[in-house]
Amino acid sequence: MKIPIGLLAKKGTFAPFAKVDASEARYERRRVCPFFCFVLLAALAGLCWGAARAQEPDLGTEAQREAGRVLYNKYCVQCHGEEGDGKGYAAPHTKPRPRDFTAGQFKIRTTPSGAVPTDEDLHNVIRQGMPYTTMIGWPDFSDDEVANLIYHIKTYSNNFQDPDYFDPPIIVPSPPAFTKESAELGRELYTQMECNSCHGEKGRSDGRSAPTLKDDAGNAIRSVDMTKRWTYRGGPTRKDIYRTFSTGMNGTPMPSYDESLTEKERWQLVDYIYSLGDSDDANYSDRLFVASTEDEIDMAQGEALFEQAQSAHFPLIGQIMEPGRAFHPAANGIEVKAIHNSREIAFLVKWHDMRADISGMNSPALQAPAESEEGGPLDEGGASEDQESAEEDFFGEVSESEHEAPSADDFFGEVEAPEQEADGFFGMEEEEEPADAAVQESAFSDAVAIQFPSAPPEGIRQPYFIFGDLKNSVDIWFADLAQEGAQRFLGRGSASVTENDVEDLAMRATYEDGEWRVMFKKTLGSEAGVSFEERQWIPVAFSVWDGWSQERGNNRALTSWFYLYVEPQQAPSPVFPMTRAALTIFGIEVILIALIRRKYKNALQLPVLQANALGE
Ligand code: HEC
Ligand code: HEC
Repeated sequence: MKIPIGLLAKKGTFAPFAKVDASEARYERRRVCPFFCFVLLAALAGLCWGAARAQEPDLGTEAQREAGRVLYNKYCVQCHGEEGDGKGYAAPHTKPRPRDFTAGQFKIRTTPSGAVPTDEDLHNVIRQGMPYTTMIGWPDFSDDEVANLIYHIKTYSNNFQDPDYFDPPIIVPSPPAFTKESAELGRELYTQMECNSCHGEKGRSDGRSAPTLKDDAGNAIRSVDMTKRWTYRGGPTRKDIYRTFSTGMNGTPMPSYDESLTEKERWQLVDYIYSLGDSDDANYSDRLFVASTEDEIDMAQGEALFEQAQSAHFPLIGQIMEPGRAFHPAANGIEVKAIHNSREIAFLVKWHDMRADISGMNSPALQAPAESEEGGPLDEGGASEDQESAEEDFFGEVSESEHEAPSADDFFGEVEAPEQEADGFFGMEEEEEPADAAVQESAFSDAVAIQFPSAPPEGIRQPYFIFGDLKNSVDIWFADLAQEGAQRFLGRGSASVTENDVEDLAMRATYEDGEWRVMFKKTLGSEAGVSFEERQWIPVAFSVWDGWSQERGNNRALTSWFYLYVEPQQAPSPVFPMTRAALTIFGIEVILIALIRRKYKNALQLPVLQANALGE
């Protein structure tokens, strides 16, 4: 019999980090002990079954499905494919891959793990889209059009007709007020429930098993960065978070915690997750202020050095204009702070990375792979030897099963994987495997670059943002994080990136809890590239390479040009002179009053003395 993956997971047998035999034993106990009660309950449940079912299959009319098909073929087929199998022609360029509707597995649902979503769930996800994926929202369709699209999508999977896959939606209660105490209790639960093993201590998606995670189709999958609520696929609100981890995300390693946590515990967990980020929106900056200081710039001080600097957040996007395209790079944002004194300037750049790749090497001058590989190693073909051995360790710990290769099925503990599906799965992997040969092991390290025009741009003309152009070169400050010290390159277009004089450019890097912090420092003036002057606006851009995703050369995350402003030394603040003037005036007034008092002292005191004398 085919046992739906999710239905098993829902019953609490999903224990990603316990030994499987232990969880099976628990499952057995559960099944054996209450067996007779179960029979009784089953009889009762049978009576109520019709009433309890949340949703009758509603497959629409022939005309509605047909209207849906027409819309689908116009707007959705490029990604989701004519067969609904997620293999549209644009699919290779998207990460995560478009949903394969034939699998009948949906991520954003109010229904329990394994069940099909309600029509309303589908309606919401189509209208709102899934942030930070290529699944954009479709707000302009009428309600009828969305309903027809849903009827059409349902034709791809029999799950939508099978009562086994129908389960009433969970109730998401209205949230209690957020409190710090609740978040603190949630932090403990977060560790206790091992959320950190995937999501990382601080929710930066850097848990120890993060590099091994795969979805049901065998594609590597990343958990969200919980410090960036705006990237949540299922919405940023506390109710959204509650729903997501209560029902889990079908087809992914994200389990359901419907039965293992009480409502109160769930809100505590929500509050902890919520406390990891400070905004529902990205609030990106468009400029960077380089704060002035009179102190020495000593990088040994670490981040404290940048205390008075304002931080700026810039969005990182994939380089898709030139060969070596990165359609979905690993990093999606970078935080920057900068300071200068009369001699030097320093930058601090921070971004989140699942794992520090400090082996191998990287360089902006490296040849990036051709387009065929642009999906990158996060997909079927790209697992490196390192990753594979890590996976074996990981799965070895989870299951002692005899399978030759660990699969997502082992991971989910599916008892009987239908033969056909297994073939399909491995067949597909083989088909797209060749990339593996080209990207053998994690030969590339993490890296970061800051880019400036070599000379101040005249007028509004800037060098081309992808490593400059022949007329306007760029000065690239580069840190290969597998190596000590900074490198420097001169860019005249991505085909012409050459090493440049480092001068006194220095670099210092640390990695902790899923975050890279890299500092660069240099004297203000320069022979080989950009020089900084006070009150100057200078274009600046950033690049980040993720070694694990085999990003190198032009295959990277980058920003477009932004401007930095070098704040003047000892900016004459109007506050100080104004306060000084006010204090002087006040002081003079006090002295005047004192003088007047002294002069009239006797005259004033006499009547008082007289009065006192009379009183006695
Ligand atoms: C440019 C590519 C693209 C197009 C066009 C597109 N989608 Fe998607 N869609 C995706 C991707 C990618 C995902 C999976 C995202 C993820 O797994 O996080 C997805 C997922 C979905 C899901 C699954 C949601 C869930 O909860 O799992 C539905 C439903 C969906 N799309 C419907 C549609 C419909 C309807 C259209 C046309 C109106 C459409 N999509 C057009 C890329 C696309
Ligand atoms: C086995 C690994 C694993 C464990 C354990 C795990 N998660 Fe996840 N989680 C994931 C993955 C992978 C995703 C991303 C799925 C996707 O976007 O397709 C995710 C996504 C999420 C999301 C984001 C949903 C969104 O809208 O994008 C939340 C919230 C979440 N997990 C909470 C939790 C909590 C709370 C726990 C512990 C109680 C937990 N997770 C345990 C792997 C895991």
